[in-house]
Amino acid sequence: MPGMYHKNDFDLAGFSVGAVNRDAVLPKIDLIEEGDLVIGLPSSGVHSNGFSLIRKIMHLKGLNPRDEAPFDNVHTLGELLLTPTRIYVKSILPAIRLGFIIAASHITGGGLDENIPRILPSNLAVELSANRWKMPSILKWLQKEASLQSDEMMQTFNCGLGMILIVKEGNLKNTLKIIRENGEVDANVIGRVTARTTDKSVIVHEYESLLTTLQAPSPCPRKRVAVLISGSGTNLQALIDHTRDRYNASFAEIVLVISNQSNAFGLERAKKAGIKTMIIPSKGYKQRSQYDMVVHNALQSASIDIVCLAGFMRILSGEFVNLWKGRAINVHPALLPLFKGMNTHERALEAGVRVHGCTVHFVEPEVDCGSIILQEAVPVFMDDTPSILQERVKQAEHRIFPLALEHLATGRVRLLANGKVSWVYR
Ligand code: GRF
Repeated sequence: MPGMYHKNDFDLAGFSVGAVNRDAVLPKIDLIEEGDLVIGLPSSGVHSNGFSLIRKIMHLKGLNPRDEAPFDNVHTLGELLLTPTRIYVKSILPAIRLGFIIAASHITGGGLDENIPRILPSNLAVELSANRWKMPSILKWLQKEASLQSDEMMQTFNCGLGMILIVKEGNLKNTLKIIRENGEVDANVIGRVTARTTDKSVIVHEYESLLTTLQAPSPCPRKRVAVLISGSGTNLQALIDHTRDRYNASFAEIVLVISNQSNAFGLERAKKAGIKTMIIPSKGYKQRSQYDMVVHNALQSASIDIVCLAGFMRILSGEFVNLWKGRAINVHPALLPLFKGMNTHERALEAGVRVHGCTVHFVEPEVDCGSIILQEAVPVFMDDTPSILQERVKQAEHRIFPLALEHLATGRVRLLANGKVSWVYR
């Protein structure tokens, strides 16, 4: 690989080995015939192919992986180029086990032109309609930057398809249902097996339709976040630092900090970062929910999408919690469900646990009881004091709280009506 290896460099490769019964081996060449259908599974980007060309384009154009992608206002070029390869095994295995899939081809190095012929009998071809799938913007951009011809694209990149499957028409409906339900929601029919009449066994119609939509970045509104605090605000600081770091390409923006304590140091942190602050003292309200409604109205006036409780030393009323269900998260200094409530570090030391930690969870009416988003464990050492242990736990909080916020802001995690957490990784 040109320009890749230098003296004493070495490759470290990991792999896994699987076993399959002989009669289950794909492709089932003898079963493939004219009229069978081709299903396409979208790729997440370049996957791991074409990097020699990509590095050459970057070099010639003087581009850096940290440059903003000209067609995406959230990610850098590097992030888009290194988007992890989509792995399809979990989505398609149930359909393979039922015998619905008779051939499957990953679209890797060599692109559509080289990979699909490997699973076809020599007398058959596939005809694909490119208007049935989408090309990721990063690939459209590469084609544009390097003025690549469509056949060069098809011989180098996956052109938006990470894998294709061949199925009998009669099994199509069930196959699509299974693989969509198992995560590949955009799986679709993209073509058909036909008789081969030329030297080409992969014919792509309407290729140009793949290129038509490379546009300037569409405005991608970041989620507006309010952080509720009562004290020093080190977690607030971690959230500010994370969301402000351009290389994190955060989907969240902290726009409001509310404190019930006028002397909370976190307010200074917010002001320094130029974030709007509000002090809403809790004195003078007959009922907890009255105070909470004042906070709720302030959040609504600021069009807040997500609320982060970062050391907000108040129990929130059921009314408030229900209004923010699935949109409010809290960081708790213990590995829930252990050590709910106050003085968690003292209690952990008292209990003699050897592992302690922190939890980010959705906020529910019952204190420290909502569904867990992330946890991080820290060791407890013999000579720990509550404050030493607290410091270690806080370091962990500062790692997982921003991450959990990011998961919520991107929609990777959400709270279901049954109170359970649902994860979506694409
Ligand atoms: C943290 O330990 C958090 O887990 C708890 O309150 C503390 C807030 O600390 N809910 P800080 O104000 O973020 O420094």
